Amino acid sequence: MNFYIMTLFPEMIEQGARNSVLGRALANGILSLEAVNIRDYTKDKHGKADDYPYGGGAGMLMQAQPVYDCWRAIEEKIKEKCGKKAGEKTRVIYLTPQGKAFHQEMAGELAKEENIIFLCGHYEGIDERALEEIVTDCVSIGDYVLTGGELPALVMVDAIARLVPGVLNNGDSAGEETFFNDLLEYPQYSRPEQWNGKNVPEVLLSGNHKKIREWRLAQSEIKTKRLRPDLYEKYALRKKLTEKLVKRNKALYADMSECLSRGRGELLYAGEDGAVLWDKKADVYMLAAFDEGSAEKIVDQIPSGISGGQFILHEEWLLPPMERRFRVKEKMMCQRAVYNRGVSLPRSKEIAIRQLDVSWLSVVLAHYHLGSEEYVKERLAAGAVFGAFAEGKLAGFMGEHIEGSLGMMEVFAEYRRRGIAAELESYMINLHLSRGYLPYGDVIVGNEASLKLQKKLGLKVSKEMYYWAVV
Ligand code: ADE
Repeated sequence: MNFYIMTLFPEMIEQGARNSVLGRALANGILSLEAVNIRDYTKDKHGKADDYPYGGGAGMLMQAQPVYDCWRAIEEKIKEKCGKKAGEKTRVIYLTPQGKAFHQEMAGELAKEENIIFLCGHYEGIDERALEEIVTDCVSIGDYVLTGGELPALVMVDAIARLVPGVLNNGDSAGEETFFNDLLEYPQYSRPEQWNGKNVPEVLLSGNHKKIREWRLAQSEIKTKRLRPDLYEKYALRKKLTEKLVKRNKALYADMSECLSRGRGELLYAGEDGAVLWDKKADVYMLAAFDEGSAEKIVDQIPSGISGGQFILHEEWLLPPMERRFRVKEKMMCQRAVYNRGVSLPRSKEIAIRQLDVSWLSVVLAHYHLGSEEYVKERLAAGAVFGAFAEGKLAGFMGEHIEGSLGMMEVFAEYRRRGIAAELESYMINLHLSRGYLPYGDVIVGNEASLKLQKKLGLKVSKEMYYWAVV
């Protein structure tokens, strides 16, 4: 990922980014950061980049011409480096106390960009005409006024960079932390076991990972309730719905309860009569209507302005109101398989399973036909697809779909009947168990081979059917 920072004070940026995690990611090439001096682009013979505001008023304004030319030079550079086509614009973030408030979710979204340009104002601001020409987003880091955009830009770079794969040492550490799932982080302890008369909580020394996870969750809940009642309220609503869904039908609603407990979905509606969740990352809507009479109302909770997308309809009676509101292009009837047992499945030593990277794209595409090239590429890049290797050769693969279900399974014809599918699924189930998930997948109705495999591995398959609908 490449950051470009337009500023009158490049040293401020360079000094701020050279150490610790950012410094390391810059040194090993996972990130690049360039502080570009706006003053280098002024056409003024004295090197001036600011002037008095028309109409009077205090202070100086940064002029339009150097800001605009500086931006053009960066865009040219990006075009050369990344092969951008004409018209494709990089996001340009103007740091201003008048902007939209920066938050963790925005950091996550921006971490997916290949290039970001930050524009730091100084003095009283920037000539509006330059802003109109180049800025795509106005962002504030808080309700206070700083002397310039350099510190806010560094704050944003830091928060975004640590979400870029490979920047933090431990791939998990960006997941389970403050603001994950609307909870604050649990307390942490390091050596020695006793310090200043205080002991490390005993459960953390027990080696029992299930107990440790439960203790941490309970601590997070206590801390959030005390320090951030606003966040806790959101969390409690999600928790209540998760419990309700599990109680009603654990298998059928596993996608919704897992979406909530993995901290992913946005809750659009939760009531006695049903719920609507939007998995923003996957752009999938999940609908549940607990009785036929509320189906219409549940469909009405889908925001107006939505004209297409993927929907999981957990009850058949949701179909008529969906078909009245949208043109349903495709629907697929499925049953849900869940692995309830909580204990890891045994694995054979003969079949090695490894994560596949994007270099396997053409091989995976040649065998998997339920997703577009773009989708498969995204899944590979996310590290969500795993290959089984027999005698050193790829024999099949399985993955985690973008909304969290297990699937994308394919065993190549010449390797079938050797237990490779069971190995792949056992591996994926164990992986999800190690993350504290309830492993689940969709079985397309009529896929007898898959049903047989689910039963063999001890998964529970829902009697109830649900629909994947594309509108
Ligand atoms: N520039 C000055 N103050 C700022 C703030 N609070 N956020 C973003 N940019 C700023």
